[in-house]
Amino acid sequence: MKNILEVSDLKVSYGAIQAIKGLNFHVAEGEMVALIGANGAGKTTTLKTLGGLLSPASGQITFDGKAHAAIKSHDLIREGLALVPEGRGIFPKLTVVENLEMGAFSRTDGKAAIEADIERMFGIFPRLKERAFQLAGTMSGGEQQMLAISRALMGKPKLLLLDEPSMGLAPIIVQKIFETIREVVKGGVTLLLVEQNAKLALQTCQRAYVIDGGKIALEGQAQDLLHNEQVQKAYLGE
Ligand SMILES: Nc1ncnc2c1ncn2[C@@H]1O[C@H](COP(=O)(O)OP(=O)(O)O)[C@@H](O)[C@H]1O
Ligand SMILES: [Mg+2]
Repeated sequence: MKNILEVSDLKVSYGAIQAIKGLNFHVAEGEMVALIGANGAGKTTTLKTLGGLLSPASGQITFDGKAHAAIKSHDLIREGLALVPEGRGIFPKLTVVENLEMGAFSRTDGKAAIEADIERMFGIFPRLKERAFQLAGTMSGGEQQMLAISRALMGKPKLLLLDEPSMGLAPIIVQKIFETIREVVKGGVTLLLVEQNAKLALQTCQRAYVIDGGKIALEGQAQDLLHNEQVQKAYLGE
């Protein structure tokens, strides 16, 4: 499989603070890859950079064969790259349906196709269908996370970037959301998953990178990392 994403020697700073210090990783088409690491390791900074919200200080990002730097940030969704940010980033004053329509803003395949996809999202998350005309900001955290993922999928992404989808959610809701994420990926989306919940991420993905202090500290098959003593001690609480 070809790589949909290649990151080489990426450096990202906030003013004088260098948060990402030379990151190298890749994601192949159809893969589920996890980026795990402690609080402050640089996971969100990496995803924000991929989502066009931050500019790299140096390094190369290639997305779907194109130089990421050559794609304007507002064109990234059209090109097939969707970010579900930490804290979800839905529009709280809009209804569920309106949020889903916003997710499809870059599409040119017409109203009927978009409506069919909204129905498809309701099939994946029946809870959203029940709340179709509710204001998004009044829903529970789990429902908002379902909406954030659905809204990203409405843009028909090739690569979905998820930042801490489990954050602040009850374990049973997290299980439900992760089951759905696995189904969505089987349906043909590539996933880069950022999680502080390392166990869940390693159980979900095929491959993973451990980020520490803005650099990749370890990488491998998720199954191998689950059984790696260093990973168990530092990230799995075992
Ligand atoms: N807006 C910001 N301004 C300055 N430093 C920041 C900002 N956002 C994050 N950082 C710093 O960058 C580093 C990486 O943060 P972040 O990418 O949010 O980590 P993670 O998502 O892995 O918890 C941390 O040291 C953090 O304090
Ligand atoms: Mg973060």
